[in-house]
Amino acid sequence: MASTFTEPEPSPLALLLLGHASDDDTEAGVVCPGDLPAPSDPGLVERARAAKETLGSRVFILGHHYQRDEVIQFADATGDSFKLAQQAAAHPEAEFIVFEGVHFMAESADILTDDSQQVVLPDSAAGCSMADMATIAQVEECWALLEELGIAEQTVPVTYMNSSAAIKAFTGRNGGAVCTSSNAERSLTWAFERGEKVLFLPDQHLGRTTAVIDLGMSLDDCVVYNPNRPRGGLTDEQLRGARMILWRGHCSVHGRFTAQNVDEVRERVPGVTVIVHPECSFEVVSKADVIGSTEKIIATITAAEPGTAWAVGTELNLVKRLAEQHPDKEIIYLDKTVCFCSTMNRIDLPHLVWALESLVQGTVPNRITVDADTQHWAKVALDRMLALPGPSAAKD
Ligand code: 13P
Ligand code: SF4
Repeated sequence: MASTFTEPEPSPLALLLLGHASDDDTEAGVVCPGDLPAPSDPGLVERARAAKETLGSRVFILGHHYQRDEVIQFADATGDSFKLAQQAAAHPEAEFIVFEGVHFMAESADILTDDSQQVVLPDSAAGCSMADMATIAQVEECWALLEELGIAEQTVPVTYMNSSAAIKAFTGRNGGAVCTSSNAERSLTWAFERGEKVLFLPDQHLGRTTAVIDLGMSLDDCVVYNPNRPRGGLTDEQLRGARMILWRGHCSVHGRFTAQNVDEVRERVPGVTVIVHPECSFEVVSKADVIGSTEKIIATITAAEPGTAWAVGTELNLVKRLAEQHPDKEIIYLDKTVCFCSTMNRIDLPHLVWALESLVQGTVPNRITVDADTQHWAKVALDRMLALPGPSAAKD
């Protein structure tokens, strides 16, 4: 008798995870079209090199420090999100900007480059879970609540680079600025010169650490607005009394590090210096010796004496690369359970080859564009950040 069993249709969630569908609620959407070369193809490095050479100065490749070695080797400039935003703005000669990073970075590059330049994200499923924790509809609902309470006028929105273009535009429209982990302190100082309160989006940890550790506020000055609870889960008095209204978002990679990790590594490696990214929780940054953006972590470890030991609380591709580049120092990952950023890791060699070869053949794959109005206001917020006084790269 013939079997009546039929393969179940993959669920929408399974398709999303496989990168074969789209979700309008995420910052990136996850459709990934194209005929990708097999990862096992031994000629991939040569193919990437040849395509890049053919494109010459028509293409400029930007690589975030969390990218895999296999793709970062082709980057014309590497950096943290602040440096990459500067680099995107500094190359008007390139027809194509290929972004080895995640969706919000590619959007920012599109905003900061000329209209004639086209920004390509080799895998459009490379989003950011933190950026997805704040949608523009939720942010507007929060702002409407602040207006209802009569406190919106005293509030300056500051959004972390890791947010959608729509949220950057909201920020620009409402008198605020973008910040990155390299300049959050300067950005917040700028904001408090203009208002009594800050609505900080979407990373509660960066906001709290900068306010309390860098600007000397107290934890009681901060409240956490939960977009999934009515009125943010806060009383009107809490919102009226707060100086920092922190959005309830976090990074799934940096959020994994714990205070116990710090205690354990200090026991395991006597004399170790613990250096962590400000996206780590307040408990972790409070126990660390040094807090810094990815650029600052690199600069600090590069300048350190040979023989020193470092436990690093940031994304694993960067920690591995630092360990390889500095064999004279002991460089270890802060957590014993290793963790890559899964979305950063989506940009692999097959996707890079596919993107570059498509450009050679005259098609622009996975172009990231931002509409004109969003672009205008997001640029206002980005330009306010880029114009901040002080050092241009790593936070001191
Ligand atoms: P920076 O590049 O600003 O250090 O941010 C880290 C990060 O998580 C990027 O997604
Ligand atoms: Fe987003 Fe964190 Fe990955 Fe950066 S490391 S892209 S903040 S999930």
